[in-house]
Amino acid sequence: MLSTMRFKIIAIILCFTLSVLGKSISEKQTDPDWWKHAVFYQIYPRSFKDSNNDGDGDLKGILQKLSHLKDAGVDALWMSPIMESPQVDQGYDISDYYTIDSIFGNMDDLKNLIHEVHELGLRVILDFVPNHTSDQHEWFKASENGTEEYKDYYVWVDGTPDKPPNNWLSNFRGSAWTWSEKRQQYYLHQFMEQQPDLNYRHPKVHEEMKNILRYYMDLGIDGFRIDAMLCAYEDEELRDEPRSYLPGVGPDESKYLLHIYTNHQPETYELLYEWRQFVDEYAEKHNVETKVLMTEASGTFNQTIYYYGHPDGSTLGAHFCFNFFLIENFNLNISNAYDIMRIVYNWVDDLPKIFIPNWVIGNHDNRRAATRYGPDDRDGWNMLAQLLPGIAVTYNGEEFGQEDGEVTYEQGQDPSARNRSIFEQVSRDFERTPLQWDNTTNAGFNEGAKTWLPVSKKYHELNLASQLDENELSHYNIYKTLVQKRQESPARIGTTDIWALSEDSFVLKRSYENKHIVLAFKLGWHNHTEEESILIPGISCENGTIALTNVGSNYTIGSSVNLQDLKLRPHESLVLDITC
Ligand code: NOJ
Repeated sequence: MLSTMRFKIIAIILCFTLSVLGKSISEKQTDPDWWKHAVFYQIYPRSFKDSNNDGDGDLKGILQKLSHLKDAGVDALWMSPIMESPQVDQGYDISDYYTIDSIFGNMDDLKNLIHEVHELGLRVILDFVPNHTSDQHEWFKASENGTEEYKDYYVWVDGTPDKPPNNWLSNFRGSAWTWSEKRQQYYLHQFMEQQPDLNYRHPKVHEEMKNILRYYMDLGIDGFRIDAMLCAYEDEELRDEPRSYLPGVGPDESKYLLHIYTNHQPETYELLYEWRQFVDEYAEKHNVETKVLMTEASGTFNQTIYYYGHPDGSTLGAHFCFNFFLIENFNLNISNAYDIMRIVYNWVDDLPKIFIPNWVIGNHDNRRAATRYGPDDRDGWNMLAQLLPGIAVTYNGEEFGQEDGEVTYEQGQDPSARNRSIFEQVSRDFERTPLQWDNTTNAGFNEGAKTWLPVSKKYHELNLASQLDENELSHYNIYKTLVQKRQESPARIGTTDIWALSEDSFVLKRSYENKHIVLAFKLGWHNHTEEESILIPGISCENGTIALTNVGSNYTIGSSVNLQDLKLRPHESLVLDITC
């Protein structure tokens, strides 16, 4: 149990430091570099807060909870798609880019939200889905009907109903081609068949997308998270993709093939560079703050960095491209602290210095961090994500350690998991269950009506309200303190070193002049139960101060420790302040 007074004192000192080092809200609003050290908070709108008790979260619900984001200390919120959609893929299938889906509210609600977010000194990022639309979009309907103006808006290819043009597979399983009886041609869809791919070889599509970006920038949106960027272009010759030969992967599964002709095509990068130029020119012309582009594009490190732009800085792309390495390149059964060290060095040392690293440990497409890394390690992972240099991205609920919910096959809503025997393995419903605000009915998500996905049974014990007491060490208080600590010089502008001390333990050191913030983390994997001695490399002084511990640690926040005699038990994580 934490020494409560000390926790309070440290929080006060941190707030003071923050106000000295940090910038005032009004200054921040005109800071072109505001994003470079920001915490971006991802809201999954359907599951965040339901203001009208209809079972789906909405914009008014987000508005009601803005004070939480301010309290948590994050800099910007990014909302997963809110535009009109049949919700086949939960909004990632847009039928009208200029209308807000009625389950979320309307355009006035969005305008109001933008205003209130800005009043609080925060920024708001929209999810932008340019690779595909819904098959209910007017463009697709007109295209399928062969209307001249829209004929080439999508990727249409000749063929016969029994023979798709090539072997390409959808990310959601099965052929990426669907035959249209109406048009007597195949159309491409890299996701569901209700999500036809737009054709970027048609100049009008470029224009349409720029119009959408301009429309939302005119409303005051501060940037865009670009969905499925890697899929924008495909090989013009439609060549078959080679097999991956991954063991145990069936011929219907996307991973059966190596996506050398559908992902990361050279023209895809050029398209992003075009958008960057467009938003930069917009900001300059209108004399407004930087409009930030953040890109979703999983790939190898080299594939990923070109989404940032050319390594020499001559051409810029996204302000940052999500670093999914701590999620995707990480298999809990076989990965260890050496892997963490490699990933961190990869992103800190190999990333060209003009680009800003970023750290993602969870999102709406992956099991929640607290479940994936193990509930006992959740604080340690937040410490890592927040104390690494650059940008941190937090998925809603991660700030108080929400775990995956319980969803049965019948309750599931994720189209990528429907009709599949491996529902448990592939469904993304578990990380999308409603946010657990408190221990009232439906976890405070709404007033007790049905919810679009079931509320996790864990909410009685695991909810935000139960973690707000500043005198108690909670996952949320730890998160808040970390977000504040990011403003201290070592975390903000200091050097970064990381050492794996064993398979289970590592030390991250951020240093500025004679000040160091050190994270020592003994992961609780591999069933190791022994205490481990932790010697922090490159530190000569004897003592340090415990700035933070995980919930359940034996150490006391605010106490001084002998650095020659530091021992950690499995799952224990400490943040130390050291001056020497
Ligand atoms: C990536 C999004 O994160 C995911 O949720 C969605 O299903 C696909 N793109 C398709 O838009």
